[in-house]
Amino acid sequence: MPKLTAPDAPVREWLDAIKTRHSRRSYDGDPVSSDTLDSLEEFCASFRPSPVARAVLVREAPADIFTGIVGSYGRVTGAPSAIAFVGTIGAPGVDMSIGYTGEGIVLEATRLGLGTCWIGGFFKAARVSEILQLGGGERAFAVSPLGTPADVFSGFEKAVKTVKTVQGTPRKSAEEIAPGYTSWVPWARAGVEVARLAPSAINRQPWRFRYEDGRVICAFDGAETAQRISKKLDCGIAMLHFEMGARGAGVEGTWERLDHASDVAHFRLT
Ligand SMILES: Cc1cc2nc3c(=O)[nH]c(=O)nc-3n(C[C@H](O)[C@H](O)[C@H](O)COP(=O)(O)O)c2cc1C
Repeated sequence: MPKLTAPDAPVREWLDAIKTRHSRRSYDGDPVSSDTLDSLEEFCASFRPSPVARAVLVREAPADIFTGIVGSYGRVTGAPSAIAFVGTIGAPGVDMSIGYTGEGIVLEATRLGLGTCWIGGFFKAARVSEILQLGGGERAFAVSPLGTPADVFSGFEKAVKTVKTVQGTPRKSAEEIAPGYTSWVPWARAGVEVARLAPSAINRQPWRFRYEDGRVICAFDGAETAQRISKKLDCGIAMLHFEMGARGAGVEGTWERLDHASDVAHFRLT
């Protein structure tokens, strides 16, 4: 079974980025410095935890990539650049791998001082394919705007953040996503606390964790519905967060994909 791990990730910096990151949809339109773009482009090329997912920097992003519908979810304005999260169509574990890989890029962009927002719903996948000249075997699963956020939250952003928390949007309690977690070993508890802060489509927070025989299993709640964005993609994002939390607590481990029912992967110490 394919494994996911990020042994070279800057754990402390990404843990800091996790605390400050939240989705930004309004940008000031100014170009990002070419040094910063070079650095992120290099990171996109080197951060390849999975053979079936990759991130590509779009240095000059045409505004029509983001086709938000006025008054609905997903309006992005003024973003000078973007990142496209590209995966191999139909490959086992592709959604999970896109989430895990993409969140690494999002955290690195945050560390570099850029605003981001996962956009899986309202964007023009065909336009992205054309810009990146993707072959038939790949498609963009999601994109993120990239740039300097406009100082003031837009009306839409305010509407999304009706309940303020440290993260900007509300999160389920750790007990809700990992019942009984207070009795788990310290690294597993730390992992859950960091996973809980992960972004997810429409903030649905579908990830659930359980501790069994010294390993932690990540599953999604309810059914994998016909929604456009797979819950496994959300799980991949939360898995990267979990790993940073666990490594911050001093252990090394790897996620291994599972393929039964709603179980997505398990994390075992290495
Ligand atoms: C896979 C994925 C897809 C998303 N798609 C969209 C989208 O299409 N439009 C949008 O405005 N936000 C989108 N979001 C952002 C979520 O609404 C946001 O992450 C969530 O509400 C939590 O808020 P936070 O990121 O500020 O912590 C998406 C997030 C994820 C993880």
